[in-house]
Amino acid sequence: MASSLAFFLPFLLLFLSISHAQRSFRPDALVLRVRKDVSTLQYVTMINQRTPLVPVNLVVHLGGQFLWVDCDNNYVSSSYRPVRCRSAQCSRAGSTSCGDCFNGPRPGCNNNTCGVIPDNPFTRTATGGELAEDVVSVQSTDGSNPGPLVTVPRFIFSCAPTFLLQGLASGTTGLAGLGRARIGFPSQFAAAFSFRRKFAICLSASANGVIFFGDGPYNFLPNIEISQLRSTPLYINPVSTASAFSQGEPSTEYFIRVNSIRIEGNPITINTTLLNIDSQGNGGTKISTVNPYTLLETSIYRAFTSAYIQAAAARNISRVAGVAPFDVCFSSENVFSTRVGPSVPYIDLVLQGQDAVWTITGSNSMVQVNDNVLCLGFLDGGSNPRTSIVIGGYQLEDNLLQFDLAASRLGFSSTLLGRRTTCANFNFTSNA
Ligand SMILES: *[C@@H]1O[C@H](CO)[C@@H](O)[C@H](O)[C@H]1NC(C)=O
Ligand SMILES: *[C@@H]1O[C@H](CO)[C@@H](O)[C@H](O)[C@H]1NC(C)=O
Ligand SMILES: *[C@@H]1O[C@H](CO)[C@@H](O)[C@H](O)[C@H]1NC(C)=O
Ligand SMILES: *[C@@H]1O[C@H](CO)[C@@H](O)[C@H](O)[C@H]1NC(C)=O
Repeated sequence: MASSLAFFLPFLLLFLSISHAQRSFRPDALVLRVRKDVSTLQYVTMINQRTPLVPVNLVVHLGGQFLWVDCDNNYVSSSYRPVRCRSAQCSRAGSTSCGDCFNGPRPGCNNNTCGVIPDNPFTRTATGGELAEDVVSVQSTDGSNPGPLVTVPRFIFSCAPTFLLQGLASGTTGLAGLGRARIGFPSQFAAAFSFRRKFAICLSASANGVIFFGDGPYNFLPNIEISQLRSTPLYINPVSTASAFSQGEPSTEYFIRVNSIRIEGNPITINTTLLNIDSQGNGGTKISTVNPYTLLETSIYRAFTSAYIQAAAARNISRVAGVAPFDVCFSSENVFSTRVGPSVPYIDLVLQGQDAVWTITGSNSMVQVNDNVLCLGFLDGGSNPRTSIVIGGYQLEDNLLQFDLAASRLGFSSTLLGRRTTCANFNFTSNA
């Protein structure tokens, strides 16, 4: 008896000290790199998943419900566990469905498992998927550099069949949902490390942008802290905007309230009904990484572009033929460059709340299509779109956006070029 205890004691102590060491490092925040895929204009990030860990490239869907990955092709992991029907994780995922699978068992195909609906928002395709858990590992951060890797042993995600990858950037095998669902990235990381349900994105066109989970600081080279964000409430759309959903499910996307749009300080005329979210979930404004350029409902688009063309003319900037997908293009003659992009009429999104003005300068309004032509990076969203204004990727680049799910507020910086830095300036050299 005594001898067997003596035999086990060193192992027991070793085990205790390892688990203690792991528990004593609690990160304040996590960091992911995000890059733009040049052919699809999607934003792509990477996490480590499974046992042994492998890097998994994922398309970022800001308002997406959860993580889903292709489990049919090459999913090898000793720590994969299907989520059982009627378990706590299943209800956390908001699922009541229960499934069997006949050609398993393997990841994505097990009996008595909880089912969810992974969604590809680019092709608007959704399908059934097995809910599962596996290890996810990402880098922590002090706000200035990446630090030690930290692990979530049972990160909830959905398996998806290979065909759901259609339309996603090449080399990616799934989708990272940063939406407000209880199994979205922000909520799962916050729960795992006891930090606030808060995250920030800072997208870059050309290099590594950055996503932070948890609180700031957000420090960029050369030693610039991005603080003093303006802020506006986040709104919940009561009707899901996913490709497939059950009745009564709210949207997990991030909606804000645009009260008016100004060009060079002058408001354009907008049918204000379009700016509200109605009881069917139509109308309003959302922020999306699915659309590469901002979409405006047709009547808003017309008012916006005609005012813009006029304001450009007043600066002697002449209109030239459109270059697809853009209708409104200008000669770059008479346009000089400034710190905040080409010197063109500036746009204000006047949002709900005091001083909540998001200013869009040339860096985020103009797309340089060739040496002589700049195009207005806003597109006609059609005359009966589900959402009247969809603020797209190009308008988000080099802006820091902080989503505080607990307080239901969006903090925004407007262009970081005005603060003499960019989203590509996070120092990704690890100081671990
Ligand atoms: C699920 O159960 C059915 C019927 O009991 C069985 O034929 C099938 O092999 C099982 N599948 C898995 C993945 O265990
Ligand atoms: C404003 O938009 C709403 C919703 O599309 C529409 O029903 C209404 O007729 C529009 N009002 C005007 C004055 O165009
Ligand atoms: C625009 O061009 C006209 C004629 O060439 C010139 O008189 C005017 O000053 C210019 N305006 C601006 C804002 O550059
Ligand atoms: C980036 O961070 C590393 C590690 O802290 C540091 O050694 C390096 O000087 C930083 N780079 C710049 C350009 O400041």
